[in-house]
Amino acid sequence: MFEILENEILAPQLHRLVVRAPRVAAARQAGQFVIVRAAAGEERIPLTIGDADPVAGTITLFVQAVGYSTGRIVAIPAGGALRDVAGPLGVPTHIGQWGRVACVGGGVGTAVLYPLAKALAAAGNEVVTLIGGRAAPYIILRDELAVFSQELVITTEDGSLGRQGFVTAPLAEMIADPARRPGAVFAVGPVPMMKAVAALTRPAGIETVVSLNPVMIDGTGMCGGCRVVVDGEAKFACVDGPEFDGHRVDFDTLSDRLATYREMEAAHRCRLAG
Ligand code: NAD
Ligand code: FES
Repeated sequence: MFEILENEILAPQLHRLVVRAPRVAAARQAGQFVIVRAAAGEERIPLTIGDADPVAGTITLFVQAVGYSTGRIVAIPAGGALRDVAGPLGVPTHIGQWGRVACVGGGVGTAVLYPLAKALAAAGNEVVTLIGGRAAPYIILRDELAVFSQELVITTEDGSLGRQGFVTAPLAEMIADPARRPGAVFAVGPVPMMKAVAALTRPAGIETVVSLNPVMIDGTGMCGGCRVVVDGEAKFACVDGPEFDGHRVDFDTLSDRLATYREMEAAHRCRLAG
């Protein structure tokens, strides 16, 4: 069992959990994830390791309660425990030296972006962070990202915080200005956002890394559930990713696969609601 030490609501439906998992905390690198089960026999949920404290033996997980199983996880209060935390899994982020790096986060994807941006800054890159959300309450980790970001740009679709519009608008301006153009871009968020980022950086020849979140089951490369198409070839996000070259990902296939279980999940929620 893995004790939950803290359970805090960060944004609507988004929780930050601090979990005692000493071996994961000691081994984890930026970009890796764990697979979590709330209780025996329940669905396995992949969650990015948002942060870790090897001395305290804890990891931080950001959980968006989008369905039944994620709802079960966030319902466990501090003092309760998760049945399983397996990991760290996935290929750690390649932390290069690009000089100026733009880190682009969309909505809850900002939680996945946070450890990458922190590791890029720790390696000496000049991190410029752009985060976008539907409205002010959906802008997360702003203070935490500000600690190491040289510049922090916020956008909201309704204009309630920062600039009005999508997060890709200030990125396009940055790319168009030779004095502000980044050497690399890391983007994490909804698939249409990552696709839009890749479309902006491709003509400019800017290296672009995206983090993908297909459906995962075993997390070991055995089940094929997390299959994505990269450069026309099937890759498994759990063992080959979750990060990939954004210019080579087939985002349309990924969108289709993500939509596969939406109806079943909605029907299940209806059944539970009676
Ligand atoms: P959202 O739909 O509210 O979008 C957040 C922001 O992303 C928007 O405000 C906008 O700035 C940007 N964006 C969205 N669509 C865009 C487009 N077409 N062009 C340019 N920018 C765009 O996001 P949300 O509801 O917080 O996130 C939910 C989605 O994120 C789910 O689909 C989830 O699967 C995905 N997600 C992805 C990851 C990952 O690792 N890639 C992690 C967590 C969640
Ligand atoms: Fe099964 Fe990746 S989750 S192959």
